[in-house]
Amino acid sequence: MSTAAAAFSELYGYAPDGVWSAPGRVNIIGEHTDYNDGFVFPMAIDRRARVAAAQRQDGVLRLATTAPGEPAEIAAADLAPGVLSGWSRYLAGVHWAFGQRGVRVPGMDILLESDVPVGAGLSSSAAIECAAALAFAEAAGADLPREELVLICQQAENDFAGAPTGILDQSASLLSREGHGLFLDCRSRQSRLVSLDLGSEGMTVLVIDTKVSHAHDSGGYAERRRDCERAAEELGVGALRDVDLSDLVLSAQGMDQRAYRRARHVVSENSRVLTAVGQLEAGRPIRSLGPVLASSHESLRDDFEVSCPELDLAVEAAMAAGAAGARMTGGGFGGSALALVTEAGADSVERAVTRVFARAGYTVPEVFAVDPGAGARRES
Ligand code: GLA
Repeated sequence: MSTAAAAFSELYGYAPDGVWSAPGRVNIIGEHTDYNDGFVFPMAIDRRARVAAAQRQDGVLRLATTAPGEPAEIAAADLAPGVLSGWSRYLAGVHWAFGQRGVRVPGMDILLESDVPVGAGLSSSAAIECAAALAFAEAAGADLPREELVLICQQAENDFAGAPTGILDQSASLLSREGHGLFLDCRSRQSRLVSLDLGSEGMTVLVIDTKVSHAHDSGGYAERRRDCERAAEELGVGALRDVDLSDLVLSAQGMDQRAYRRARHVVSENSRVLTAVGQLEAGRPIRSLGPVLASSHESLRDDFEVSCPELDLAVEAAMAAGAAGARMTGGGFGGSALALVTEAGADSVERAVTRVFARAGYTVPEVFAVDPGAGARRES
């Protein structure tokens, strides 16, 4: 029996109907492009949220977690944005979002267990939502395509949990496959898997969790979205996806300079995603992504201004210690950086980052390798 199922049985006194799990993600490249109708290239990681669940007949939701956190109990009929806070709103929000689409999910007992670090920019909330979405869809007898579940989870995150995020995280969690990255066009919502056989090239992806906690339901993220909308308006397009770099440069004079820099990040980042995916699909080695990762970081730091000193230092130290490429990953304002390194060089990159953080007086970072993990699935 999985530990989530065992913890469920211990808490509720009976066995769950099943256990569903979904991964966190690192975004390899394509940052702050999803809500601009652009391109992203994330991979699921081998850290997952697990939801053990059973149906109830009385329309009540009972939510508990193995992590520190108060359990919650609420009638499904009373679910509304703002009624819950903390981790439980990701589970309840998905239940609510199904209801918003007219899909009736029964009451449920739920036990959540997750090893996706919280606040590290690895989509711990999307992992919870996506595992719950599979459990709820099955309980409702609703055979919905995964692309639809992505939108249900996004609605939970946006309207119930109050974080105005795009579809990157939920898509990575629901649509990924082991050993692959996911190339996604956020406008058409078409995606394809791209092989990422890191091991065969002796490469690995290191996550450097700076321990600077971020949250996207507060200021900076929403502000960047507004900046992008304004820039699109100034440029007379529906979304920054529709702008190419040469047109943007020609418009620079007449534009608000901040809007211009925000737009330049998004436009150049979209083309970096296409470059990265194009290289991999042409059979170039994974380490050849190094330069695009490095320029993505510079653009996020200087034009989009979502990095922070800890992320910059992590990237700088990883590069100096021999990483092929490194960048902040996720929304920024803290969270994690990723570094593309050789397996042989991983330890020295970790030591170098830890050393410079200590010297700078920063909190000890957590550095760990991740593999491209499997997408959301029923475990048992
Ligand atoms: C967060 C959001 C995503 C995306 C990234 C930035 O992870 O949840 O939708 O916007 O930031 O790329």
